[in-house]
Amino acid sequence: MVDLEALEAEARTSLAKAGDEASLDEWRVAWLGRRGRLTAVLRGVRDLPAEERPRVGAGANRLKSALEEAASAHRGQLLASAADAESIDVTLPGRTPPLGSLHPVTLTRRQLERTFRDMGFDVVEGPDVELEEYNFDRLRIPAGHPARDMWDTIWVADDSDSGEGKPRQLLRTHTSPMQIRYLERRDPPIRVIVPGTCYRYEATDATHEWMLTQIEGLVIDENLSFAHLKGTLEAFVRRVFGADIETRFRCDYFPFVEPGAELGVRWQGDWLEILGCGMVHPEIIEDAGLDPERYTGFAFGMGVERVAMLRYGVQDIRHFYRNDVRFLRQFEGRR
Ligand code: PHE
Repeated sequence: MVDLEALEAEARTSLAKAGDEASLDEWRVAWLGRRGRLTAVLRGVRDLPAEERPRVGAGANRLKSALEEAASAHRGQLLASAADAESIDVTLPGRTPPLGSLHPVTLTRRQLERTFRDMGFDVVEGPDVELEEYNFDRLRIPAGHPARDMWDTIWVADDSDSGEGKPRQLLRTHTSPMQIRYLERRDPPIRVIVPGTCYRYEATDATHEWMLTQIEGLVIDENLSFAHLKGTLEAFVRRVFGADIETRFRCDYFPFVEPGAELGVRWQGDWLEILGCGMVHPEIIEDAGLDPERYTGFAFGMGVERVAMLRYGVQDIRHFYRNDVRFLRQFEGRR
């Protein structure tokens, strides 16, 4: 009697132990080879009693093909796990996963901040939601004054019952309120910049967005004149745009400076205004508790998106806040 089931169990157990191709070959020789165990059974069929032959012969043949199939499946598994092991090459340098990248306005803001820091400025920030008093009144722009029309304003509604009579708030239209806040807390000499987001109730076009980034500057000390303003801003612009950049100052009006000006840089045959500036109004110095005969200073407010447009050749300011990854990906890897 040949116990085919016991034979199959033994063959499969030893096949499962074959951990590589060499031992798989050994197994094949031992079971299916010319002198293999199953081959011996098949050969022995002819010596069996006639009534036993068909059962054992058919069973042994079925077992042979079952074991051949099992062996080739096992071989496939061995190859697959070898390939897995090879694909992890621990000596390779790490691959950077896609992490996203800095926004072009952030890149530009950081470059401008770095440049001002190198020139000895401190950097502070102020609130985006600002009191009417700081955004307007204390910058010499009282309610009803036509100069308020220079800044189209997004007011923050207070719908509560106690809203009546409370100080009004708005999304700051510029970073200039930080001039007042800083002067409340610090004494001269002052040399500070204030980067931040500003908001205007404005229809958008290629050069105007309702949200924009400004960098405010404030310098207060004894004996400062318009020459210091010009010298500082011209030195700054040359550091950012290169020594050959052409600049021009033109008269402009802002209620909190006297005189006021705008600074343009020459770019591809055109003048582009990148900031407003001027000598801090003596009343603002006096309101801060300082003697305007002794202390003078200058201030400026720079449009960061404008500078980013120049720097990267962006034709439409609205690209910056559309969140179109095809636009944003162009700045990957920049610093
Ligand atoms: N705050 C002004 C604006 O938003 C710019 C400015 C700042 C002008 C400081 C003069 C001095 O247009």
